[in-house]
Amino acid sequence: MDKQLLILGFAGSLRKGSYNKALLRAAAELLPDEARLEIFDLEGIPPFNQELESHMPEKVKEFKDRLRAADAVLIATPEHNYSVPGVLKNAIDWASRPYGDNSFEGKPAALMSASTGMLGGARAQYHLRQILVFLDMRPINRPEVFVTFAAQKIDEQGNLTDETTRKIIKQLLETLVVWTKRLKK
Ligand SMILES: Cc1cc2nc3c(=O)[nH]c(=O)nc-3n(C[C@H](O)[C@H](O)[C@H](O)COP(=O)(O)O)c2cc1C
Repeated sequence: MDKQLLILGFAGSLRKGSYNKALLRAAAELLPDEARLEIFDLEGIPPFNQELESHMPEKVKEFKDRLRAADAVLIATPEHNYSVPGVLKNAIDWASRPYGDNSFEGKPAALMSASTGMLGGARAQYHLRQILVFLDMRPINRPEVFVTFAAQKIDEQGNLTDETTRKIIKQLLETLVVWTKRLKK
């Protein structure tokens, strides 16, 4: 069997009870056999300061190393005020620097979003897609995973219980694996 693909997943939420973190945990259960998922917590990444680019904070170095080692990236984001949360944008800004050392460059990516509202973070996800253009990433277009009314689909223990959502996440991951293998050829 070929070496398993490594997918690095991270959520744009620091909350322990985050619905987006719950989507990542569900993804770990739904992955095809050819891939494994490591989850990186953005907790501890300080606010971006360009003066520190030449001696990056340890947590940022770790994030950049983990991204570099990954074959693909899986991002689960909340929507904050119709866009991506500052926590996520901040982490992306760090890992895209210093100039010439963008750790996202060329990476295949898949996106998910969960919100308590009726659009499931769609607006944030489209803003994120725009950011991915500048990062020169290779996101898959479909399926689009917008988890609406997340509080009804994720239980108190943080388990994704909604079968339709589990199915679409499984499809997303299968598509990501096929796409990542194709790009590696
Ligand atoms: C500052 C803030 C802004 C928010 N703005 C939106 C929004 O624009 N659209 C939306 O659907 N939900 C919005 N929400 C609600 C989030 O969808 C909800 O808090 C969700 O649970 C956050 O994701 P998490 O569970 O992964 O932390 C907002 C929440 C916060 C705290």
